[in-house]
Amino acid sequence: MKYFIETWGCQMNDHDSEKLSGLLAREGHEPAASLAEAELVLLNTCSIREKAVHKVYSQLGHLREEKELRPLMIGVTGCLAQQDQETIFKRAPQVDFVLGTMAIQNLPHLVSEVQAGRRHVLDTGEYPDHHLFPPEVTVRKPMAKALVTIIEGCNHACTYCVVPTTRGAERHRPFEDVVEEVQGLVGRGYKEVELLGQNVNSFSGGCSFAELLDRVADVNGLEWIRFTTSHPMNFTRELAQVLASNPKIAPFLHLPVQSGSDRVLRRMCREYTTEQYLERLGFLGDARERLCLSTDFIVGFPGETDEDFEGTLRILDTVAYDTSFSFVYSPRPGTPALRLQDDIPMTVKAERLARLQARQTELTWQSHRRQVGLTLKARIESQGATDSGHWMARTGQWRNVHLRVPEGIHPPFGELVDVRIVDAGPHFLRGELA
Ligand code: SAH
Ligand code: SF4
Ligand code: F3S
Repeated sequence: MKYFIETWGCQMNDHDSEKLSGLLAREGHEPAASLAEAELVLLNTCSIREKAVHKVYSQLGHLREEKELRPLMIGVTGCLAQQDQETIFKRAPQVDFVLGTMAIQNLPHLVSEVQAGRRHVLDTGEYPDHHLFPPEVTVRKPMAKALVTIIEGCNHACTYCVVPTTRGAERHRPFEDVVEEVQGLVGRGYKEVELLGQNVNSFSGGCSFAELLDRVADVNGLEWIRFTTSHPMNFTRELAQVLASNPKIAPFLHLPVQSGSDRVLRRMCREYTTEQYLERLGFLGDARERLCLSTDFIVGFPGETDEDFEGTLRILDTVAYDTSFSFVYSPRPGTPALRLQDDIPMTVKAERLARLQARQTELTWQSHRRQVGLTLKARIESQGATDSGHWMARTGQWRNVHLRVPEGIHPPFGELVDVRIVDAGPHFLRGELA
């Protein structure tokens, strides 16, 4: 069959889609060029906020119409599949199978069950060895960087978050497997990897996360290691030390703070106060200056007062994050925060979000301006020039560079080049080959 996978959500889902693609390819199925040509459509879903769920059900509505016109197998996987389970068949009877996040290895079985005529096949079981997914099966998207799972699931219990339910408890891959997979990837030409997990720094697959970074960095030929994402309470001095001293670790740290109010952090069950968070950032010492520091914020959490929100603006300025992702609180099924009343009017939430984002844009632009005049390493991320004549490149700090390249020169995709930064806007840098 020709298959098409549509993916929402985080890098974990992107990488799961690469695994799902590999499983289908192994059975002889082929990727379709577009959804219109597909005989099997698999929606790899996200349920972190309500909007993400709306997108899935609206796409399922569209697929129902398609299915009325031609034979089409529809599968739903990812976090919404794990969360809604049989409910998906009730809301969208056109769906043929539902595959949970911890059962993706069983995809070929579900597909053959549907081919054999069964309707509404479901597997949302928890398979403890799923994290031992055979890496050679994975079919990666053409990207300069390869995604590598090191840990799945989350043992924290933030009161607003669906992930502990949708991804289950932590499962750690043995570090030997991770190193072996990275060696294989470098052998196939990758020079950059991103280690993935809901909470990478609680890794304990035979060594600590800091040790794992050093071991992966020892792989010959690897140029940069990235990782996402980290919980502040698992951010240790040892890890800060490795970030500060190992040149193969790309200088980027995403450390979600969520709020700058201790009262809100307590109600979110984030396990730290603002003071403890700042203390942990302090572990970085002078290395802080080299790093691009990023965070996540939630505004409008139940009971958030103007004063609480001012605390969030304060921590944004205190840390002077180089970039951040901010979201309006979205009540999620099955989460403890549902017991707190979602009492902030939408207009207030929207206004807070706009203020936070406007301040972040100023800080990001300032941070970009500090790069002007520097010569930085950046990886070529486009196969050619864009319509505006630029090549896209990405610095170690994960900043976008619009690169001017002299006529007739074609920098190879995936190559690290020296780039002189000549100008900066709020969203990207401009540079020239140095
Ligand atoms: N494991 C990561 C978070 C994954 S979810 C971590 O702890 O850092 C990514 C971000 O989505 C979170 O950091 C949070 O800011 C946001 N988020 C999660 N649940 C949310 C909800 N119910 N409403 C709004 N934003 C939410
Ligand atoms: Fe969700 Fe908190 Fe776990 Fe992150 S640490 S995935 S926000 S429960
Ligand atoms: Fe979404 Fe699941 Fe990732 S809820 S953000 S796809 S872990």
